[in-house]
Amino acid sequence: MLGTPLPENLDSPSGEVTSVRHIDHVTYVAAAENERAFCETWGKLGFSEHVRVHTERHPAAHIALVSGMSPEYPWATMTGLSVTSEEESAINEYVRRYGEGIQHVAYNIDPRADMEEVYGQMKAGGWNFMTEVLTYQDGNGARLRQMFVAPTLPYGPFVEFIQRLEGDDGKAFDGFDIDNIDGLYDEYISYSRHLDAKK
Ligand SMILES: [Fe+2]
Repeated sequence: MLGTPLPENLDSPSGEVTSVRHIDHVTYVAAAENERAFCETWGKLGFSEHVRVHTERHPAAHIALVSGMSPEYPWATMTGLSVTSEEESAINEYVRRYGEGIQHVAYNIDPRADMEEVYGQMKAGGWNFMTEVLTYQDGNGARLRQMFVAPTLPYGPFVEFIQRLEGDDGKAFDGFDIDNIDGLYDEYISYSRHLDAKK
């Protein structure tokens, strides 16, 4: 994928990470006026809106479209879309520089794994993260853990690793959290400025 950094020494036996399971979601960015067309296009593939959150510090709408069903989550496949009318946002900076497209791909981490341990192992294996492990817990005790790999292009695409843990009702966290998203954007903008400054 465009600009995705590859770790240098993944073949190190001691650094082997076996808890990556499958793709959790793929998130796109688009111009704000294209939100409806995007949702209609995916609607024709059987995707419907599952969650929509509005971030405040970095104002934007983050929409999760889902299709199907799985034993673990109330969906089988998730497509995300982030849009905003804020011209100066990192979302629209991506669109200006690279066009509309995939902003990030998220890999799902086995809920039995210790996310902090995975983070440490991956860092030792050469992955360059732009965030720590970001966490959220809802009212039922369901938890979300996310960590984001730094882009190699300023405001460019990146990779996420996500873990969804079940709460008291046995249901895994299936949404997103505003603070985690704003926290991601703090680091994404900061790292992109750092990359721009190196040019
Ligand atoms: Fe994501």
